[in-house]
Amino acid sequence: MAEDFIVTPWEVTGDIDYAKLIKEFGIQPMADLPAEFQKNVLFRRNIVFAHRDFGRIMSAIKNKKKFVMMTGLMPSGKFHLGHMLLAQQMLFYQKLGAKMYVAVADLEAYNARNKSLAELREVAIDQYLLNYIALGIDPKKCDFYFQSERSTDAKKANAYYRLASNFSRHATFNEFRAVYGDLSPGKMDASLLQASDMFHAQLPEFDGKMPVLVPVGIDQDPHLRIARDMGNRYKGHEFVQLSSTYHSFLPGLKGGGKMSSSDEMSYIAMTDTADVVKTKINKYALTGGRDTVEEQKKKGGNPDVCTVYKYFYYFFEPIDKDLKDRCKKCKTGKLLCGECKGDLVKSINKFLKKHQEKRENAKTRIKEFLVSD
Ligand code: TRP
Ligand code: SF4
Repeated sequence: MAEDFIVTPWEVTGDIDYAKLIKEFGIQPMADLPAEFQKNVLFRRNIVFAHRDFGRIMSAIKNKKKFVMMTGLMPSGKFHLGHMLLAQQMLFYQKLGAKMYVAVADLEAYNARNKSLAELREVAIDQYLLNYIALGIDPKKCDFYFQSERSTDAKKANAYYRLASNFSRHATFNEFRAVYGDLSPGKMDASLLQASDMFHAQLPEFDGKMPVLVPVGIDQDPHLRIARDMGNRYKGHEFVQLSSTYHSFLPGLKGGGKMSSSDEMSYIAMTDTADVVKTKINKYALTGGRDTVEEQKKKGGNPDVCTVYKYFYYFFEPIDKDLKDRCKKCKTGKLLCGECKGDLVKSINKFLKKHQEKRENAKTRIKEFLVSD
């Protein structure tokens, strides 16, 4: 059954076997995390489940050395709970002292989707930036930039685009094809630019040589493999190799691999109203419940295949004991899906009510983020 799943940057489907991905991709399971990581649900529950070269980041944290956390976003569709997974990690590392670089992949999106740069910019601000600010990300420690407009400082901008271009000497067509399958000029361009996103913080024009952590969903690993190879072979500057962590996917309401923006009824957006959340969960959330109430009371439900339970696990039941209780009550038939869904609706709406207020207030702070000099 677990045989038929697909995880690529362009497609995530099926019943994902994460242990198998660890082997196939040649990454390491997370291990021996210090206490401050254990306090965070995403690490404690192994949602961030694997890494490459993460030891370097842990020693930087331990020795109070500078490090960069770098990530990028595709400005398409609405910001939903799936995106919050990464945003919470960003916040976590910022609090640990990381300097943040966040690339809006508007050039990548321009090639892949049929939108103008102006429209993409609008989505990036309205959907991503406002939610980042509302979640507590500090603009002073965050270099938020657009791929299409790296910096008003020509020295910096030149260095960034020069690196992307120079990287092309260090990968072959066959390597690109092996990693990306169906190849196009747009994909190659995006790959080179993304490698520069990941490495350019270490250039002398920016923060200089230092560890860089790129936390991503496991589907993004092909990009990292290519970037690492190019960074390794590049002779113009000696880089510290990238560190990366990989998180598993929050499924869509209807199940399946990953919460995706393409089906409005399959995700909870940060801007959804309380009524919409209620309808989406009650109508569409796939549970591990039985066909009848009697049967469920007798045999119990199955939290392992339940999206409602997953949402509690990822975000909405942060106290381990409460989660365990819920699991037990489900399995023994003491908790029925209707009530359980009601609990989730309540938790999500409580969170969203506050979040949406903060998001409104964030509108006055957009400017603080939009100075890439
Ligand atoms: N390709 C990424 C995506 O599809 C976006 C991205 C661009 C990115 N540059 C990056 C991600 C640098 C991580 C690091 O979402
Ligand atoms: Fe899922 Fe809750 Fe139903 Fe159990 S009771 S199957 S956790 S919705």
